[in-house]
Amino acid sequence: MKDVMILTGAGQIGMAIARRMGYGKKIVVGDKSLEKAQAAADSMKDTGFDTAAVEMDLSSRDSIMNFLEEARKYGEISMLVNAAGVSPSQAPVETILKVDLYGTAVLLEEVGKIIREGGAGVTISSQSGWRMPALTPEEDELLAVTPAEELLGLPMLQPENIRDTLHAYQMAKRCNEKRVMAEAVKWGRRRARINDIAPGIIVTPLAVDEFSGPRGDFYKNMFANCPAGRPGTPDEVANVAELLMSEKGVFITGSTVLIDGGATASYFYGPLHPGKNPSAF
Ligand SMILES: NC(=O)c1ccc[n+]([C@@H]2O[C@H](COP(=O)([O-])OP(=O)(O)OC[C@H]3O[C@@H](n4cnc5c(N)ncnc54)[C@H](O)[C@@H]3O)[C@@H](O)[C@H]2O)c1
Repeated sequence: MKDVMILTGAGQIGMAIARRMGYGKKIVVGDKSLEKAQAAADSMKDTGFDTAAVEMDLSSRDSIMNFLEEARKYGEISMLVNAAGVSPSQAPVETILKVDLYGTAVLLEEVGKIIREGGAGVTISSQSGWRMPALTPEEDELLAVTPAEELLGLPMLQPENIRDTLHAYQMAKRCNEKRVMAEAVKWGRRRARINDIAPGIIVTPLAVDEFSGPRGDFYKNMFANCPAGRPGTPDEVANVAELLMSEKGVFITGSTVLIDGGATASYFYGPLHPGKNPSAF
């Protein structure tokens, strides 16, 4: 038996983190597409990692439970990397809420019950949630602690209150941040830690879909006018994950770390401010 890292989402961000932190572990990759999970598992295997692939749908509790059961056949789960998700240009409102919001909530809750003592996890939200205005303290609390099965019934998440897929995505990512805070308290009972990374534009197939989607010009303008002047790479996200998941980060839990080349800073106080650059919106 081995220490197990579970990776949900066989995309580029997830794989970069798995390659950084998964050495010496069994890495069990779950993705809605078994083909993608298998391709990621094979490519990591080719560079010395011990991997297995499982079909897993993050929007389904049964599928998540099956995935965890499969992973535990290899040993105790000591690391979680949740990098499965759909972007505003990839899916309708209902799917975004089911995968990015509900599925993440279920996964964090269930892994928190079985993670090895001292284990660590990261989930991936987005800078997008940071541009949405603040919610009320009551709304934040509802997103943080409502039982996962009741989340999608909250009035603020009903179709009449969600403007479009971008709004659904922002609500989902805001919810991820709040859930991580609430879950960190529970994970702490096992001296385990859970944190969140909010990336800006990171070049992956998901981002490339966004570049060619209806908000393509907005995104291209965003990275051209952020302090870094370029989009980020999955390996730069892995640098943050390494801090959060390693011994160096043992005092960090319940946190969200923004890594966006300064795009959010520029959105509030620089050239990306909507008032200063209306053409970007
Ligand atoms: N790339 C970016 O610019 C960026 C920016 C901010 C946040 N993010 C977030 O990072 C995470 C990873 O994105 P990425 O850029 O690596 O994308 P990606 O498209 O490379 O990977 C996402 C993976 O999730 C899988 N997936 C989709 N729906 C699923 C479901 N229901 N169950 C299981 N798997 C499912 C896809 O098949 C895909 O393999 C996402 O949550 C995304 O919202 C990405």
